[in-house]
Amino acid sequence: MSNFLAIDDFSRAELEALLELAAELKREHMAGANRPWLRGKTLAMIFQKPSLRTRVSFEMAMRHLGGDALYLSPHEIGLGKRESVADVARVLSGYVNGIMARVFAYEHMRELAEHASVPVINGLSDLNHPCQALADIFTIMELRPQLQGLKLAFVGDGNNVATSLLLICARLGVHFSIAAPEGYELEAAVAARGSKLAAETGADFLQLHDPAEAVAQADIIYTDVWTSMGQEESEQRRHIFQPYQVNRALLARARPDVLVMHDLPAHRGEEITDAVADGPHSVIFQQAHNRLHAQKAILARLLGE
Ligand code: CP
Ligand code: NVA
Repeated sequence: MSNFLAIDDFSRAELEALLELAAELKREHMAGANRPWLRGKTLAMIFQKPSLRTRVSFEMAMRHLGGDALYLSPHEIGLGKRESVADVARVLSGYVNGIMARVFAYEHMRELAEHASVPVINGLSDLNHPCQALADIFTIMELRPQLQGLKLAFVGDGNNVATSLLLICARLGVHFSIAAPEGYELEAAVAARGSKLAAETGADFLQLHDPAEAVAQADIIYTDVWTSMGQEESEQRRHIFQPYQVNRALLARARPDVLVMHDLPAHRGEEITDAVADGPHSVIFQQAHNRLHAQKAILARLLGE
């Protein structure tokens, strides 16, 4: 493992090893006994977009592990504008032991990794959000340890979060259904890859338009914002996505013990109601908190000895 750019770069065994390490690191942390796995190591964090969870959880993860992190805001670097992506990667590689980046174009992530001599971690791109997906599966495993055969229903936009989630579910044998409006489905290449991985692990993968059909008998309902960072047409989307709101009526169609997940930030009252986000099925804050532990596993594996 030399970078963490996309779920699809990893085998089932590699993902399972990361999840196991995350559990070990969480146990250590909860016992108040963080070991300095990354003493003296540093991480540069490039952000082209805003962040709460990714920024704070990576920074705290480095501190807990005995290292240090440097936040570089959207105004500072001008990735690909003030300076080429390749030159940023080459320069930072002389200062730090790893780079975490949140970018618009996934190609920039690949370019950073190609030209950096230190590991690069994807903290979200327009195409995918693999750190989120790892933390999400980690959360599901805490609550439903037998992953194989669970059914996750994603309701909403076939976006970066849905993409990484599909790929990790398909890889690990979790049935995945997505209900998205016409024109907002997963990218065709992503769906094709998901189908192939799902077939290998015996998982179902369904692409639908009807949310009620997608969540029937679901163990987990997952949603995300209708308009992602960098997308302009939020008014039009609000109208198109209205039938895709995760509310009490939709929950009633899933299993009685269904878990509700959201990567956050949420646009409450749009893709999810307060009653559901704050209700007894919601695990959204456990999910957010687990970003810390899942990312510690990624950092320890990539930057550790
Ligand atoms: N879920 C997530 O990545 O949150 P932030 O955008 O706040 O980092
Ligand atoms: N799909 C959202 C996820 C934010 C964490 C976005 O890209 O804005």
